[in-house]
Amino acid sequence: MKTAIYTKYGSPEVIQVVDTAKPLPKPNEVLVKIKASSATIADTMMRQGVPKFGRLFLGVFKPKNTALGTGFSGVVEAKGSQITKFKVGDEVFGEKLFSNGCNAEYICIAEDMVIEKKPTTISHQEAATISDGFLTSYSFLKDIGNLKKGQHILINGASGSLGSAAVQIAKQMGAFVTGVCSTSNIDLVKSLGVEDVIDYKKNDFTEMGNTYDIIYDTVGKSSYKKSKKVLNHNGLFMSPVLSCELLWCTMLSPKKVKFSATGMRKQKDLKYLFNELLSLFKEDRLQAIIDRTYPLDQIIEAHNYLESGNKYGNIAIINS
Ligand SMILES: NC(=O)c1ccc[n+]([C@@H]2O[C@H](COP(=O)([O-])OP(=O)(O)OC[C@H]3O[C@@H](n4cnc5c(N)ncnc54)[C@H](OP(=O)(O)O)[C@@H]3O)[C@@H](O)[C@H]2O)c1
Repeated sequence: MKTAIYTKYGSPEVIQVVDTAKPLPKPNEVLVKIKASSATIADTMMRQGVPKFGRLFLGVFKPKNTALGTGFSGVVEAKGSQITKFKVGDEVFGEKLFSNGCNAEYICIAEDMVIEKKPTTISHQEAATISDGFLTSYSFLKDIGNLKKGQHILINGASGSLGSAAVQIAKQMGAFVTGVCSTSNIDLVKSLGVEDVIDYKKNDFTEMGNTYDIIYDTVGKSSYKKSKKVLNHNGLFMSPVLSCELLWCTMLSPKKVKFSATGMRKQKDLKYLFNELLSLFKEDRLQAIIDRTYPLDQIIEAHNYLESGNKYGNIAIINS
């Protein structure tokens, strides 16, 4: 089968699509024939080995895990002897977290990991991306930020994968939402239901006089230091993008500044969140935004586009 790997850190050109043996499911695993997988900013960062301190976890001199891609959607082709929840032919989707390997033709995944039956109302390409933006942002808004109905949240990077998901989830949770993006994505962000949108190319949200209960900086382009003057009393600044400043602030003011690596949360907690999201998707209350799709053979082009800074929403890799 074809699978995308990278054996050294670097530009998109370090990615190779190689032939490997089709995996065999263990007793507690299903073999999934992948129809679509995700390609994300987080993947590009792991491929580059940035930020450099992340290499302590990823591998100091070269990547320990050479496989690429965390989100998948496909069809169960075979199952281990202990599998009770899925049958051959079921359409399923989910996430392999840091074990990666979804940018491939097949994966094996344990039944108790983040995997569920795919609703018929969403496509494989949409389903493959849900574990990136939606799962991460739901984890932040519900568990890290404890967002409450009626609170005012500002979402920086509202047109991205995490941001476009966060806007929709925050609206479902009953919050007032201000989205920050550039001119070209204002219509998109408005269409997701924000009350207010700020064009960061024209205005700085920290200088506009409005205040917020939560600032969720999905892209790490702002900082607690800059933002704290527009946070309400007991307000929270949170971001999924780790920087030295964020690390320092979370240590000094743990109630006011928060970071979380969603992929490192307990499997059962992520599975719970994933199921709640699934219910919202089934009710047609959320929509995965897809910017572009690429065939697996063109995954280098997909990573080049991810790094261009022009992406909105999500990128999916499609298998024929
Ligand atoms: N901690 C975790 O668990 C976790 C999990 C997944 C991802 N992440 C990280 O989360 C980050 C966001 O990922 P993503 O996929 O959502 O990114 P993305 O899709 O690339 O989103 C970037 C968006 O940010 C906007 N943007 C660019 N410069 C900006 C600025 N100066 N101010 C405000 N907005 C700006 C862009 O909007 P315009 O195009 O409109 O300019 C773009 O749509 C990545 O760094 C990723 O590694 C963390």
